[in-house]
Amino acid sequence: MKNNDLLFGEVSKKIADSDFSGYTFQYPPLFTWDKKASDEAVHDAWEKRLYEQTDHLGIYIHIPFCKQRCTYCRYFSKKLDDRSELTDFLASLKKEIGLLKDHFKKQKIHTLYIGGGTPSILSGVQIIELFEFLRNSFDFSECVQTVFEGNPDFLTLEKLRILKKYEVNRLTIGVQSLDQKVIDLANRFQTTGSFQKCIKNAKKVGIETINIDLMIGLPGQSGDSFLQTLEEVIRLDPDMIHLHPFYPTRLTTFTKNEQKISSREIKKRDKMGHIGHLILKQNGYADNEFDAASKEKKDINIQLSDAMEFNSSFLGLGPGAVSHVEGAIRYVNMNTVGGYEKSLDDGRLPLLSARELTKNDDMIYHVISCLRYDGVDKKRFRRLFDRDVDTVFAEEIEYLVKIGQIENTADSLIPKFSDLGEYTIFSKYFYDKVFIADCEKAFPMKGTEVDDELYF
Ligand SMILES: C[S@@+](CC[C@H](N)C(=O)[O-])C[C@H]1O[C@@H](n2cnc3c(N)ncnc32)[C@H](O)[C@@H]1O
Ligand code: SF4
Repeated sequence: MKNNDLLFGEVSKKIADSDFSGYTFQYPPLFTWDKKASDEAVHDAWEKRLYEQTDHLGIYIHIPFCKQRCTYCRYFSKKLDDRSELTDFLASLKKEIGLLKDHFKKQKIHTLYIGGGTPSILSGVQIIELFEFLRNSFDFSECVQTVFEGNPDFLTLEKLRILKKYEVNRLTIGVQSLDQKVIDLANRFQTTGSFQKCIKNAKKVGIETINIDLMIGLPGQSGDSFLQTLEEVIRLDPDMIHLHPFYPTRLTTFTKNEQKISSREIKKRDKMGHIGHLILKQNGYADNEFDAASKEKKDINIQLSDAMEFNSSFLGLGPGAVSHVEGAIRYVNMNTVGGYEKSLDDGRLPLLSARELTKNDDMIYHVISCLRYDGVDKKRFRRLFDRDVDTVFAEEIEYLVKIGQIENTADSLIPKFSDLGEYTIFSKYFYDKVFIADCEKAFPMKGTEVDDELYF
């Protein structure tokens, strides 16, 4: 098998620079999807699948607004200029749900994830309105996890009580840093002390799982600054902590403003990440993702693990949201609020692009996403696809075992990648050969070593 490390470095960069959903390890990558996505194809796909598939269905809702745009952010959201935008957006979201909900009449929703952007920017009344509308449209009677993302300054005690009432059992709080200088430099709206108050209140109202997002390597953030933040966060005892290394993709304002981080800073960032994970381990958190650690397995994002373990479908609603209809199609909504609303005003689904899925695509996606976590369970692979992983990927497995990146046991394929960078490169060896050949034509190699400044 050919050594494709350089090529996969370039492909990773292209993916990170183009996937505004942040779902960068989905397969096939978003930049290859067809712009001529049709409403019929989406309706047909949901209709066809739902008769066969009865569990682990997820709903993701993207609330695309933030008080201000953080310069480091690589996700799709827009600055909220006027609160009336929220009213208009909720009206469109209801229209989108109205167009799709009939497909789900007989379905029980297994997970609900409300992310963004900043969902907590909605007022208490709007949060109630959203949950009531959802409850009247879908069956959440067997929903095991409801996640809500928020910024500490907007998560007031009143809103937290509302979230608890609507059975939110995992709150994910964006904090990034507790160093006000770093926060201000990133143009982030977050006031000193708001996080400490928020986590105390979230515990007081009894939200079961609290996840905290921190970032490493932000402009102006020293090693000491990061460690102080981490120490303070651990002291407040959340259930899960994400340590996101800063990736300055082309989608960030940072890179759009032609700012760069040097390879020295990247090395420092990665070293801090390593130290951060060791500290988390010493404090009772188990590494269950490359960039996150939690006290218990139940604290993870179940919608994501369902998608991986069961190849389950999820319905993405809101601008920029991705949907996956297992064995049929992946599609993404328009990533402008105006375009999204206009399409729904015209009675059409707000589709940006789509990709019909083959069984081969689903098998590749399953393997690369499982390798991000515990590995590929061979029995589960057989149950899902009626094929043996050792036969389907014989050549890829042989090569990756030979270079020590995976271990092949009787029951599983176990990842041996030392970090997210290695995972990103070596998991791509499972990509479809035709796709790899196309990439070779599209990305002529410049250097002889994997680019030090890749952000994976
Ligand atoms: C979709 S954002 C939503 C978080 C929430 N709006 C907040 O910031 O309060 C999820 C997380 O991705 C991380 N993130 C955003 N931009 C990033 C980048 N360029 N590199 C690495 N992680 C990033 C941040 O830690 C952020 O909390
Ligand atoms: S990090 Fe969060 S608050 Fe900042 S721009 Fe991104 S989504 Fe908005």
